[in-house]
Parts: sequence; structure tokens; C-alpha cells
Amino acid sequence: MAAKTILVTGGAGYIGSHTVLQLLNGGFKAVIVDNYDNSSEIAVERVKGLAGQFASNLSCHKLDLRDREGLEKIFASTKFDAVIHFAGLKAVGESVEKPLYYFNNNLIGTIVLLEVMAAHGCKKLVFSSSATVYGWPKQVPCTEEFPLSAANPYGRTKLMIEEICRDLYQSDHGWKIILLRYFNPVGAHPSGNIGEDPRGIPNNLMPFVQQVAVGRRPALTIFGTDYKTSDGTGVRDYIHVVDLADGHIAALNKLEDPKIGCEVYNLGTGKGTSVLEMVKAFENASGKKIPLKMADRRPGDAEIVYASTDKASKELNWKAKYGIHEMCRDQWNWASKNPYGYGSADSKN
Ligand code: NAD
Ligand code: WQD
Repeated sequence: MAAKTILVTGGAGYIGSHTVLQLLNGGFKAVIVDNYDNSSEIAVERVKGLAGQFASNLSCHKLDLRDREGLEKIFASTKFDAVIHFAGLKAVGESVEKPLYYFNNNLIGTIVLLEVMAAHGCKKLVFSSSATVYGWPKQVPCTEEFPLSAANPYGRTKLMIEEICRDLYQSDHGWKIILLRYFNPVGAHPSGNIGEDPRGIPNNLMPFVQQVAVGRRPALTIFGTDYKTSDGTGVRDYIHVVDLADGHIAALNKLEDPKIGCEVYNLGTGKGTSVLEMVKAFENASGKKIPLKMADRRPGDAEIVYASTDKASKELNWKAKYGIHEMCRDQWNWASKNPYGYGSADSKN
């Protein structure tokens, strides 16, 4: 059987690069489209290095998804079996400051992609949604049937794209769409060659912890110590990025099920971990002490969020394999080998 060819938008980014590697290792061909707005060509080169004999099955185009003409050319030259759509902006705080920038990039990018896919008869999509669509859940674990809400423009783009996909499927049952709601992706490939490299001051917990550990930041600020949790700090469902990447392969396989329409799946571990537990696990894995500053809650943060994993386990036949020890071990391996990510000390603040 000929290898399937998958278009991966945002494939140079954190989750995209790990997924592209798992695709190549799984015998797929992959074509990345990325404008490198929040990523680096070096990540793509590193993925090729890790893929060894499969490296020649990867190609990459520097392109903004909103460049319809450019995207048309790529679809005209290659027949894609499916698209995994990661490309988007993801910083919650920035989305509050610049809502139009987020709506323009995430919504228009997705609409152009869907239009070009339809024009070329490629109607299989896996989309990166987020647990952010559960807002502040009234109970946990979050099941896929929970009511949806958005607390900020970033979250609204995820919610809107989910709705666009559901409407698209209603209008044309030829589409097969899987919406994956990721919980909190952390860690890195065990090689330590690829990992998360955010621009500027990290918004998320583990990239910040990692930068404190390598001496780039003096201390971690803990946002909120008065939550109704075992130690007062917020609880989340952290998931190893390699497990998450594998979840995409499971979703691609599910797209072959003739009964699939537009379906949504949580990708999480089903376990909640507090901020302090995560910091402790990282300290154990790295042997580094993380200085802490206790502070008020971060506006908009939920108290406890973790996934119900039953649907993904039953229908995708997928389960996370790694726990917080492996997440922290691999995060530290990446950080210690690449303290400035894909850049150098002079290129970073
Ligand atoms: P990332 O920023 O590392 O990757 C996104 C990639 O998309 C980047 O390489 C960026 O350059 C590219 N991109 C952005 N806009 C583009 C455009 N218009 N055209 C072409 N390329 C564009 O982020 P990530 O953490 O890998 O996240 C991937 C996806 O998963 C995003 O859609 C994000 O919203 C979603 N998600 C992430 C998390 C998380 O915590 N990391 C959680 C839930 C959902
Ligand atoms: C985790 C916990 C913080 C930083 C965000 C997005 C969500 C999704 C994943 C994309 C919380 C605490 C954090 C710090 C801290 N992304 N924290 N000090 O908020 O669960 O989710 O990323 O879809 O949409 O909202 O993740 O890593 O920012 O925070 O104490 O410097 O760590 O308060 O309890 P969050 P996070």
C-alpha cells in the first residue's frame, strides 16, 4: 500500500514537530506548512535528523495559511490523504490585548484552509482544539458532552472553529473531521533534540519552570495558593507531548472509519496534578531547586481541570503512556541540552 501523505499546518511548532516525527516513524509522508511566526526552521531540521531513513518523506513550505494562492499551489502539486491543522496563535493574554490579530490569524487561516481542501477534494481533517473550551468546568473529569464556553478571544477562536467544522459536516457529509481537545501538553521528545521554545516570557507553567532551572529567570510566580485543592494551587491534566503526538496518529486511523462524521475527543491523562506537585516532580527530575514567589490568582484561571479519557480510549484505542515523572525528565533533558531553545543566548531575552 502506498504511504499516506498528510499536510501538517503549523508542523514546525511544539506539538506539530513532535507529531511530524511520529508520522514519519509510522510510515507516513508529511508536508509542513508554517510561517515560522512562533517556530524555527531548525526544529524541522532536527525532526529530519531524528527520522533517519524516513527524513526524505518530509517536505516543508514557509507559507502563511492565509496566502490562498500559495496554498492552492501546494494542493495542486500534491494529493493529500488528510490534514492535521495545528497552525494558530495560542497566547491567551496576547489574545485579550489583540483580539483582531487572533481572529484574523486563527479564523481566516482555518477558513482558507477548509476552502482549499474542499476545492481539491481533500475532506479529512484533524483539528487542534483545547480544553479551554470547557471554561471553568462545574465538575471533573471533563467529558466531551460538557457545556462549552470561552473566557478569552483565543478560546473563542477554538470554539468558533469547532462550530465551523460541525456546520461544515452538516452541510456535506463527505467531510470527516476529528476535533482533539488537548489538555496541558508538556515535556519533549526523549532525545532532547526537539521541544517547546516559546518567544518572549513564557505564558505556560512548564516552559517558565524550565527557564528558571537554566538560570534565565530568577523565580517562578505561583498564581494562586487559595484554590480548593489539596495544596491550594491550581490542578491541571498535564500530558506528555509524545503521547499527544501519538493521539494524532490514532485520530488519523479513526478517519478511515466509514461511520465517522465530525467527532470530538479529549486528549489528556485523566489525572489532575497541582502546580506545586508539578514543580516538585521537576525538581526531582532535574536536581535543580526552583525558587518560588507566591502571588494572587491569574485572572480567568480555572481551579481544577482534568479530562475524562474514556471516549478516546474506547473509540481511538489511544491512552497516554507517560506520567509526570517522564514529562519532567524529558522537559529537563531538552532544557539542559538547549537552554536557549533553538536560538542562542544573544538571540533571547
Ligand atoms: P506553536 O505556536 O508551537 O505551533 C503553532 C505553529 O503554527 C507555529 O509553528 C506557528 O509558526 C504556526 N502558525 C501560526 N499561525 C500561522 C499561519 N497563519 N500560517 C502558518 N503557520 C502559522 O503551538 P503548539 O503548542 O504547538 O500548538 C499547536 C496547536 O495546538 C495550536 O492550534 C494551539 O492553539 C493548540 N493547542 C495548544 C495547547 C498548548 O498548550 N500548547 C493546548 C491546546 C491546544
Ligand atoms: C497551568 C497552571 C496556572 C504559569 C493554558 C491555556 C489553555 C491551553 C493550555 C492552549 C495554572 C499555573 C502558570 C506560571 C503558575 N492552551 N501557573 N505560574 O492555564 O491550564 O492553560 O495552556 O489551548 O488554553 O489557557 O496552562 O500552563 O498557563 O497554567 O502558577 O508562571 O499553572 O495558574 O494553575 P492553563 P498554564
